[in-house]
Amino acid sequence: MLVLGIETSCDETAAAVVRDDRTILADVVLSQLDEHRPYGGVVPEIAARAHLDHLDRLVAEALRRSGACLAEMDAVAATAGPGLIGGLLVGVTTGKAIAAVAGKPFVAVNHLEGHALSARLSHGLDFPYLLLLVSGGHCQLLVVDGVGRYRRLGATIDDAAGEAFDKVAKMLELGYPGGPAVQHAAESGDPSRFHLPRPMKGKPGCDFSFSGLKNAVRLLVAELGQATNQDRADVAAAFQLAVAESVADRAGRAMREFALGLRGPAHLVVAGGVAANSLLRQTLAGKAAECGFTVVAPPLGLCTDNGAMIAWAGLERLCLGQSDGLDFAARPRWPLDPGAKRLRGAGVKA
Ligand code: KG4
Ligand code: ZN
Repeated sequence: MLVLGIETSCDETAAAVVRDDRTILADVVLSQLDEHRPYGGVVPEIAARAHLDHLDRLVAEALRRSGACLAEMDAVAATAGPGLIGGLLVGVTTGKAIAAVAGKPFVAVNHLEGHALSARLSHGLDFPYLLLLVSGGHCQLLVVDGVGRYRRLGATIDDAAGEAFDKVAKMLELGYPGGPAVQHAAESGDPSRFHLPRPMKGKPGCDFSFSGLKNAVRLLVAELGQATNQDRADVAAAFQLAVAESVADRAGRAMREFALGLRGPAHLVVAGGVAANSLLRQTLAGKAAECGFTVVAPPLGLCTDNGAMIAWAGLERLCLGQSDGLDFAARPRWPLDPGAKRLRGAGVKA
């Protein structure tokens, strides 16, 4: 079985072809970093235009590289939410058009489900497992019981972790995208020179918060005035440590909660762009070992936004006999666990 997957929910335009034996036949990703760099963040209108400019070519390229033609696809899957509506419309409309022309089923994929199931594509992981998704747009802990069966244990009540990295990089004038820049600066910094808050650490539940930490960095930078390179490195190191400790604390609580009543091996899947952070990986590995969990990290290309995870999620749905009508409308907001309590706070997107 072969599925063509399309991803356009944020600032990556991506297309891929995946086979049901977990082979990725083609995986083409075009990042829009250059388009958004002047603004220090993703500009929705620019993103939508860039998707429109490049998607057709990327789909053709993915098919070419896969060695298969459209007629050989069993379905076309496209991210239909959550995300920036302009980009979603480009991907969904393109996916539907291709499906209609080729006479194939269309599968509307939840982007978060793409991340949630990516460890099954990379590692063939069995259900259930715990997922920590830490990216520029999302920060949540989910129990993945099966396809379409998710329980959210915690999510951010304000900013996503990656957003905080990007904002802090901007404050420290380290460039865009912020995460890798902060990590790089932190390598020559002393994390103990400044003490920053560990948001939510020790609090009940598994929710995250980063806006207070971001604000603490803002005040610290203002206090420093003309910061030297060493000052910047020290602030970056202190911030990175605060995020890692805070995320590990939340993940630790989720692991303990998930492990209750669990028979069989306990796995923590870590996905999303922020999962690239070495200190976070290290801190999480320590916490997981404490809790008796094995960390599963899909390769970086599958952790960040890509078309292969969308094709795979579509394939999993197709194997269960599911597909969607061509009237399926893109959804800017689309929680994986609609039963989870609605979070409130500035900037809540979950
Ligand atoms: O998953 P992703 O590629 O896109 C979505 O947001 O969906 O994640 C991008 C985020 C950005 O905020 C970026 O700054 C962050 O991941 N990031 C990192 C690192 N590499 C990327 N954050 C911390 N450390 C890194 N090494
Ligand atoms: Zn994502």
